[in-house]
Amino acid sequence: MKESQPRTIYLKDYRKPDFLIDATDLNFQLYEDGARVTSQLHIRRNPDADAFRDVLELDGVELQLERLLLDGRTLNPDEYQLDDETLRLERLPKQFVLTVVTWIKPQENTCLEGLYRSSSMFCTQCEAEGFRRITYYLDRPDVMSSFTTTIEAEKSRYPVLLSNGNPVASGESGDRHWVKWEDPFKKPCYLFALVAGDLEWVEDSFTTMSGREVQLRIYVEPQDLNKCSHAMDSLKRSMTWDEEVYGREYDLDIFNIVAVSDFNMGAMENKGLNIFNSSCVLANPETSTDSAFQRIEAIVAHEYFHNWSGNRVTCRDWFQLSLKEGFTVFRDAEFSADMHSRAVKRIEDVALLRTMQFAEDAGPMSHPVRPDSYMEISNFYTLTVYEKGSEVVRMLHTLLEPEKFREGSDLYFSRFDGQAVTTDDFVACMEEVSGQDFTQFKRWYSQSGTPVLTVTDHYDAETSEYRLDVKQSCPPTPGQQEKQPFQIPLAVGLLDGSGKDMPLTLKAGQGDASGADGDLTRNILVRESEQSFVFTGVTEKPTPSLLRSFSAPVRLNYPYDRNQLTFLMSFDSDGFNRWDAGQKLAVSVFNELINAELKGEQVDIDERYIDAMRQVLLDDKGDHAMLAKMVQVPGVSLLAEQAEVVHVDAILNARQRVHERIGASLSELLLSKYRQLHAQSGNALDSVSMGLRAYKNACLMLLAQGGAQESVALAKLQMQQAQTMTDEFGALAALVNGPDIEAAQSALADFLCKWKKDQLVMEQWFSVQAASERHGALDSIQALTAHELFSERNPNKVRSVIGTFGGQNWRHFHAADGSGYRFLREWIIKMDGLNPQIASRLLTPLTRWRKLEPQRSALMQKELQEIMAHPGLSRDAYEVVSKSLK
Ligand code: ARG
Ligand code: ZN
Repeated sequence: MKESQPRTIYLKDYRKPDFLIDATDLNFQLYEDGARVTSQLHIRRNPDADAFRDVLELDGVELQLERLLLDGRTLNPDEYQLDDETLRLERLPKQFVLTVVTWIKPQENTCLEGLYRSSSMFCTQCEAEGFRRITYYLDRPDVMSSFTTTIEAEKSRYPVLLSNGNPVASGESGDRHWVKWEDPFKKPCYLFALVAGDLEWVEDSFTTMSGREVQLRIYVEPQDLNKCSHAMDSLKRSMTWDEEVYGREYDLDIFNIVAVSDFNMGAMENKGLNIFNSSCVLANPETSTDSAFQRIEAIVAHEYFHNWSGNRVTCRDWFQLSLKEGFTVFRDAEFSADMHSRAVKRIEDVALLRTMQFAEDAGPMSHPVRPDSYMEISNFYTLTVYEKGSEVVRMLHTLLEPEKFREGSDLYFSRFDGQAVTTDDFVACMEEVSGQDFTQFKRWYSQSGTPVLTVTDHYDAETSEYRLDVKQSCPPTPGQQEKQPFQIPLAVGLLDGSGKDMPLTLKAGQGDASGADGDLTRNILVRESEQSFVFTGVTEKPTPSLLRSFSAPVRLNYPYDRNQLTFLMSFDSDGFNRWDAGQKLAVSVFNELINAELKGEQVDIDERYIDAMRQVLLDDKGDHAMLAKMVQVPGVSLLAEQAEVVHVDAILNARQRVHERIGASLSELLLSKYRQLHAQSGNALDSVSMGLRAYKNACLMLLAQGGAQESVALAKLQMQQAQTMTDEFGALAALVNGPDIEAAQSALADFLCKWKKDQLVMEQWFSVQAASERHGALDSIQALTAHELFSERNPNKVRSVIGTFGGQNWRHFHAADGSGYRFLREWIIKMDGLNPQIASRLLTPLTRWRKLEPQRSALMQKELQEIMAHPGLSRDAYEVVSKSLK
């Protein structure tokens, strides 16, 4: 919390560190009123410093410095300078040992960075800059050190004492005991971790490809022991996959995971000691939905994969965050695609990208995958750095094709092992193995905003030539008015009249494409702002299937008519594009309804959309997980993102009409589909059963949203008889969004009664209400925040009520009187005093104020101004609010 305006940090100012820390010896003494940290730093001048300055500036925040010794001699206060954020020493020997003793108060740490308490344990979160809340240090990722850590605590309260690496010694005296850990790999301090608590664990082992045995443990609070097996299985599958697909082997003798209930993010890849938000690791079929199972598998994999992409090779500075995050998201996405349905995984990822990342990229916080400035780095753990960053790596994978990409990643891991590097270093490896020049490609890292591809076509029956005319542009974003053209792999297929793919031959001299003549999908390479591609031997006018599998993170404009879209929905061989054609059809129908309402006109819902839905429901052969995606009606967030100006009421009314119309026309079909799937779905955890349940619950939800009274009895019955949380919660959600308010209330009460002891289940119970148009009016939300199970100290609870309300409850958050906005502002200010990272995330919906119609826009802006005027605003919130108002 600072009164003065926060400083902006620029990539262009990067300088190598003046000092290195070869070894870090830490000693923690944990007490009920605080912790004493004694740190011995073996420091020397950096021989490669850019321009050596003999000033050592160690980072430290909210630390009480008790003693400082240089080579064993206690320093007097006049021998160093101390302020709120730094400890400064000058005229130092070439090499020395600095001993720093600090006293910190984990019990009072509410920002959940550094060392803090979660229920009865001590735990840490150091990425990005949390280590400076533990002791004075060079808290930057390019300073890599070996660590030994001794933890001493009361034995009965904290029988388990964990840190990175391997335990090498232990002992006890009186009621206290200690354990010493040694991490043989050098690492930046953001990967440091410590846990102390009364924990139990499940254990397993994994034999690596070279035959080493690794001990695997998941530590939890005793009541959660029956929720570990899925994460353990996921971990072993991840370890195998990384060996098979990337040739990467685990490198320590033990791998530990700890579940904690208070955590700002999903999970953290600390070397040998991953710490997880309990919601991202704990699961069993009675308490967790299938989506939770899949999310957990993906996050366990993500953190495990970081051991190479992040830990063995790390980031030089935080501007390079996507070096590890974009790459690791790509790796975990490919892992999930290999474990389940590739097309469905792609659909989920692209849906997230298009609703949330595109919105971010079009808003005031828009930034490149490699940002070039920040005030608070925590604000840059974004969809752009993670998801768009992953898309950029995916494009490299497409451009190189799998074999060369693997060569490139092998080179990257071997060349930079043990180093802190940049996204340029990563791309250079891909260039080197492929011989391709990625100078232009690298604009994906430096230019922000979502490129727009506008495609038109021309068919010449006489020459049998088919031409695609492609234009690209990118809208201005903060700090970047003009953009240079991107290199964009555009995957194309051409369907003949019977729906079959035509073999593709690209006319010579008309640009590059991957693959060979005769292939059914080609990636044409768009490089210019305007470019044409000609296919020869095209014997009839084709229907183009463009941007197959979403080959690049762009907006595509092609003037599809609705008949072409229904045709692609039925016949496109690319599963992703079959789904996407349905989305495009739905969005165009929605836009027609919205525009008509704004003009005060009446239009009917295009029968072709209802027909297309009917065709999907009649499909008896398709993959159920895929069909579940195909019947989904586009959400408000997607429609809002695609709108020029967001008219909330018009969007909500259009959705209401579409749901009612689906109810009126398709209820019977939905009912019979529901019954058929319900009879088949069972409670097994394989992908097929999950697909059946997903589709079944999607049908039930459509019935409920369409107002079908039958949905109420079906949902009640499903809830009563449910053997999985997927079915139980699917039914609850259908009731909460269905036509019978009383039935919903009593289902919510029953559910509470049954599950009130399970925090993670209760988080779902909170959020299903917070998202509900029917049950999430402001007074209900206020009641939820007063509920005994709600806690403003627990980020999951705050996210499930306040975050869900602001992000998903369009009707009540955007109430025309501004009450939703005011409520969110109050919570942001309250949270900013406790946990700035959470406050900053809650701001997101307000940052979109410019896109709303004028009245709401003004109300939102007013709340942002109120926040801005709040004294003592955190750096996190200040950055987001000030950029949003600029
Ligand atoms: N590196 C973590 C991951 O796996 C995210 C941690 C971010 N934490 C934070 N406080 N910003 O993605
Ligand atoms: Zn990550």
